[in-house]
Amino acid sequence: MNWRVTLADVNLGIEEETAVLDVLHSGWLTMGAVTQAFEQEFAAFVGAKHAIAVNNATAALHLACMAVGLGPEDEALIPSLTFVATANAVRYTGAKVVFADIESEDWLCICPHSIEELITEKTKAIVVMHYAGFACDMPAIMRIAKEHGLAVIEDAAHAVGASLEGRALGTWGDVGCYSFFGNKNMTTAEGGMLVTDDDLLAEKIRIMRSHGMTTLTWDRYKGHASTYDVVELGYNYRLDEIRSAIGREQLKKLPAGNARRAQLVSRYREDLARRCPQLKLPFGEGRGGVSSQHIFPILLPEGVEKEIFRELLKQDGIQTSFHYPPVHSFEIYRNPSQDFANTLWMTENVANREVTLPLYPTMSDEQQQLVIESVYKALTT
Ligand SMILES: Cc1ncc(COP(=O)(O)O)c(C=O)c1O
Repeated sequence: MNWRVTLADVNLGIEEETAVLDVLHSGWLTMGAVTQAFEQEFAAFVGAKHAIAVNNATAALHLACMAVGLGPEDEALIPSLTFVATANAVRYTGAKVVFADIESEDWLCICPHSIEELITEKTKAIVVMHYAGFACDMPAIMRIAKEHGLAVIEDAAHAVGASLEGRALGTWGDVGCYSFFGNKNMTTAEGGMLVTDDDLLAEKIRIMRSHGMTTLTWDRYKGHASTYDVVELGYNYRLDEIRSAIGREQLKKLPAGNARRAQLVSRYREDLARRCPQLKLPFGEGRGGVSSQHIFPILLPEGVEKEIFRELLKQDGIQTSFHYPPVHSFEIYRNPSQDFANTLWMTENVANREVTLPLYPTMSDEQQQLVIESVYKALTT
């Protein structure tokens, strides 16, 4: 398909190219000085004590779930309006996923009231997801977690560079997990990062990231260690130096990229509110904070068939998406013991009507105009 406007695009240049070549010429290809520098720079950027690089955010979420001690006897509360990896990470530990509803049509993040209603004596953790890079109600969620002794994991895959009350999303709970997949605000192709202020959790995560071993090949190469023990059932979730080198360059570009996203979103909001008032544009009135504007979701009016609308935009060469088919609708997550129709009413309402429009920092004003015209045409003809 030859799109005139794609849904997302990367912003890679000579800086990333040079950084990758430097790694190749260095002769050290995985988890060494470049990855350590990336971790330190990322920790400083979000204001966390520890940052631990991994090979994707799904691995980050899995390690976070393991580190807070989720296991087969436990339940974790998560939104259903998320990417399936949020739920899968919980399931890898043997814990049961319990789906909470989202707040409203205006705020597509997990609802604190829904969380409270679904807590049982088996609940051990809440996994929140900052949809589109807008903050979940973290003050309320942290209060509930404290009251019930629950761990909080933040799926901040959408939220790199976002904050609430001056505090980076991903640093409110026990562990935050970011994605650097190719369509994210910063990318390493595949990659992810965990952040935490807790020394013990950080130590556990570091060890589990690399086979449960107490020392790394890098430590032994540097002469800091000569052997190792294996103290946990670990994984190979390491990030390599090539991707870390790309990540360091992408982190430098992130503030400008997020600022351009915010500019594009302002124009979408202004033009679409004026020309297509029948559309609902979530996240208009905020709870404050700074969004990373990862995606731009719109809600179609009742009666407009989503797939027909998307097909009309496709005919104009505009790629759209859908965030997300709710996880509870997937075969492996159907659960007769939870009354989805009642507990996930808002999730289903939003999922039936949501369409995601193109958004990326290198999108031109002309490309955005094409999208706006196409949306107007699809709704009025
Ligand atoms: C909300 C959310 N969680 C988790 C993930 C998983 O990220 P990764 O592809 O880096 O494993 C994604 C990626 O699309 C995501 O959007």
